[in-house]
Amino acid sequence: MESLASSDFITPAWYRLQTSANGEPYVQLPERPGREPIFLTSLKTTDNMNMATMMDIPLFHETLISLPKPYTVSDADFWITLQLSGKSGLSLQALRSGDPDTGVYIGGVTLFPTEKAPAQAILQLTTQGSIPGEYELGYSLNPSYHRKGIMRDAVLALLAWAIEGAGVRNVVVSANEINSASVKLIESLPFFSRSGETQEEAWPEHKGGGMRTLLTWRWNRSN
Ligand SMILES: CC(C)(COP(=O)(O)OP(=O)(O)OC[C@H]1O[C@@H](n2cnc3c(N)ncnc32)[C@H](O)[C@@H]1OP(=O)(O)O)[C@@H](O)C(=O)NCCC(=O)NCCS
Repeated sequence: MESLASSDFITPAWYRLQTSANGEPYVQLPERPGREPIFLTSLKTTDNMNMATMMDIPLFHETLISLPKPYTVSDADFWITLQLSGKSGLSLQALRSGDPDTGVYIGGVTLFPTEKAPAQAILQLTTQGSIPGEYELGYSLNPSYHRKGIMRDAVLALLAWAIEGAGVRNVVVSANEINSASVKLIESLPFFSRSGETQEEAWPEHKGGGMRTLLTWRWNRSN
């Protein structure tokens, strides 16, 4: 396997872990023109309806291999219960707009221990060259909020928190070659280095079938 050396992640100047009126930890993404206040928070059981409505659209079925199709409120309940159990992704993973306690769920950005990542758990895929202690990054955002720099800021906030609070040192992220939004997002984060690995993925028949090429990037902290 090639060297994993990459440039260091730098915590953004705006990053600050805060506590909401309800006593919940959150990070506010920086305010930028054309977007309302956005917060990185934990999931809530009441996110189920918004999550189900948001996820069951063609874009997500086309880009997320492990997403059940159709995606129902029961699927959202299953997912939220799993996440709140502490046995899957790290706790700060829900993006909401307006307010950290009462804001609407608009997307997810999650670090999963690699062996517990959704594609591994549901499809038994093997991430080539995964290393002990590695986390896999996954994300999805309501299309009404795309192209405003939200997911880029959300990944920076999540990594800053995870490095400090959960001791995360190794992160892998993968995207299909044809998913230009995800590829551009990753490439806008210079600490991720494109690994030489590629994986041919058989896309599920009920989602259109065919083979897709999965590209992989990694970041690891040297200290
Ligand atoms: C991938 C996704 C999360 C991007 O979220 P986003 O908030 O719109 O991305 P950002 O606005 O932070 O953009 C980050 C960078 O990617 C670029 N980018 C984002 N979407 C793009 C698109 N559709 N086409 C081209 N470039 C795009 C932006 O221009 C920006 O680059 P820049 O800083 O050089 O200008 C969103 O498109 C999504 O939810 N897609 C469906 C789910 C998905 O694909 N998940 C990942 C599976 S691997």
